[in-house]
Amino acid sequence: MKIIVYKNYNQICDLIAKNIVNKINNKNKSVLGLATGDTFIGVYKRLIYYYNSSKVNFNNVITINLDEYIGELKFENTYKYFMYENFFKHVNIKKKNTYIPENMSNISKSVNNFQQIIKNHIIDIQLLGIGFNGHIGFNEPNNQLHANTHVANLNKSTIKDNSRFFEKGSQIPTKAITMGMADIFNAKEIIVVCNNIKKINIIRKLLENDLIDTKYPVSLLKIHNNVNLYILYELYDKIKDNIYNNVIIL
Ligand code: F6R
Repeated sequence: MKIIVYKNYNQICDLIAKNIVNKINNKNKSVLGLATGDTFIGVYKRLIYYYNSSKVNFNNVITINLDEYIGELKFENTYKYFMYENFFKHVNIKKKNTYIPENMSNISKSVNNFQQIIKNHIIDIQLLGIGFNGHIGFNEPNNQLHANTHVANLNKSTIKDNSRFFEKGSQIPTKAITMGMADIFNAKEIIVVCNNIKKINIIRKLLENDLIDTKYPVSLLKIHNNVNLYILYELYDKIKDNIYNNVIIL
């Protein structure tokens, strides 16, 4: 795992977006693995900027999102809506090329459909955020983790963290369909960003030794041979004396 320390969120989003633009321009039918949440909003903004500046064309691009809530929820609270609002509606990506698990009543059908989509594609670049509890996708800390696409029961702490996106009194989902660990590990390159100082304990745990632990799902990324982890300087500065790995400071 390559650890890159950055000082400016906008700059790092631009660098990641440029990396994605290069990939798209050099490869017909690039496959991007996408995440929702706060972390990558800046990257989507830069991708939209490069599209508007005619530096990239999404006509042949395929996207696969990590996860989607399931259960009864307003469309505005779905990850489908998030992706549409923050990215898809601003570029020329084809709707049929954007894959997100379906929140439908036949859940096992939805899981199987999504697993098939993963099997049919190899993701070139996977964007990954880290949950406050160390989850990736919705692979929540546990004694055992799933390899494949599955229905995840969200941890109490995740439900609480996600409540910030929901109106007061509205029902917050407790389940989601998510890629499993093997699905994520199939990606050729994984880009992880931690831009939140409040995630310091997770990053400390991740970087203080070379252990992997299913109770910190993000630590399993140490097994993958092409992971770039970008961490905010303020965060690095607080834990630098305990970091086991080499880091690159931008
Ligand atoms: C979202 C996802 C989650 C988030 C993580 C970080 O599709 O899979 O694992 O990436 O919870 O969320 P933010 O970026 O909001 O801190």
